[in-house]
Amino acid sequence: MDPMNNPFSPGAGSPPPEFAGRGAILEQAHILLKRVLLKRPEKSLLLTGLRGVGKTVLLNEIDRLAREDGYRTILIEAHDDKPLAVLLAQHLRGLLFDLDRVLGVGNKAKRALAILKGFVGAIKIKVGEIELGVDLQSEVGTADSGDLEVDLPQLFTAVAEAAAERGVAVAILIDEIQYCSQSELSALIMAMHKMQQRLLPLVLIGAGLPILPGLAGNSKSYAERLFSFPMIGPLSEADSSKALNQPVQTAGVVFNADALHEIYRLTQGYPYFLQEWGYQAWNHAVTSPISLSVVQEASTSVMHRLDENFFRVRFDRLTTGEKVYLSGMASLGAGPYRTSDIADTLGITVGKLGPTRAKLIKKGMIYSPSYGEMAFTVPLFDEFMRRVMPK
Ligand SMILES: Nc1ncnc2c1ncn2[C@@H]1O[C@H](COP(=O)(O)OP(=O)(O)OP(=O)(O)O)[C@@H](O)[C@H]1O
Ligand SMILES: [Mg+2]
Repeated sequence: MDPMNNPFSPGAGSPPPEFAGRGAILEQAHILLKRVLLKRPEKSLLLTGLRGVGKTVLLNEIDRLAREDGYRTILIEAHDDKPLAVLLAQHLRGLLFDLDRVLGVGNKAKRALAILKGFVGAIKIKVGEIELGVDLQSEVGTADSGDLEVDLPQLFTAVAEAAAERGVAVAILIDEIQYCSQSELSALIMAMHKMQQRLLPLVLIGAGLPILPGLAGNSKSYAERLFSFPMIGPLSEADSSKALNQPVQTAGVVFNADALHEIYRLTQGYPYFLQEWGYQAWNHAVTSPISLSVVQEASTSVMHRLDENFFRVRFDRLTTGEKVYLSGMASLGAGPYRTSDIADTLGITVGKLGPTRAKLIKKGMIYSPSYGEMAFTVPLFDEFMRRVMPK
């Protein structure tokens, strides 16, 4: 069928033609947004899930909902090589300028800008790199200690007070939140603690790979009280079918039931894979309905494409030692895997594998779902590893 009209959208963060199976989580986000507007306490949200399950798409949708509810929002993507403070400062600047332009009495937006200026000065960011362009004296003694855990709560307080003065609320959305360092995460947690205690209109919604198990000590127990961590998982078979059928129906096309079932079996309901299979099945089909044999035919090219792209780009970033570690995991099945079992299968002690494991975590290839356990962050990566590095 005409590839020009292909409705599917495999890609990072590309909005799906049918946003299936996320009603409950969107509802939870909406309740949070509404409650904060009403000055009622509510836990912030950290959406966690594997690669390609649709976290970014969800975050974008929550951003849209928040704006609809009258929120001022900033959406940032955390990086492992860029301090969170820099990203936040750049975005908050725009937001505060905006608030300052809204008519009304009071000057809390200006005050927050002055505080932001001090905040930036204190984190010793090269001024050239982050030209704030704030033509105000910085406020001395607030959010300028240089200690993020002290400064961020004060900065958020000033921002939220400025918003409250204008009768609006602020939503800070952070994607790839697993790239934040321990101290950045704990500063965010402290800041949100402050927001909740004072019922200030600022919400934080994050998305990323599972991080809670990696948080240590006090940060962790705080985090559990302040945030809810909904796990964004694969879609059910019914929702997968909807994600595939709905988009083609508008073009007068249908999938046969056995074709849908086969796609579900192969993708296990992972949204990115659903888009890939839908996309290729459409291109392979000559006419409606899209049959099982078309799907089977398309599967060969989808697998090939995934192996050459989605999986391959990740594989190519690994050192030999890291590849060996992952193939050791894959040889044990689908996971999660006990670190001691991985060590046993590789014939090395757990301690010696520590540095490799740490690098793989940093690269976002694996995570620890619970103490002493490891799992792949990329769905079906174990099968790929067994294909490229058979034992
Ligand atoms: N609920 C859904 N229904 C159908 N398709 C979806 C759904 N959610 C996401 N997708 C599709 O899945 C793909 C991946 O989505 P997205 O980039 O949001 O995932 P992600 O979890 O952010 O991945 P990563 O961890 O790699 O950043 C996109 O092609 C998107 O269109
Ligand atoms: Mg994403």
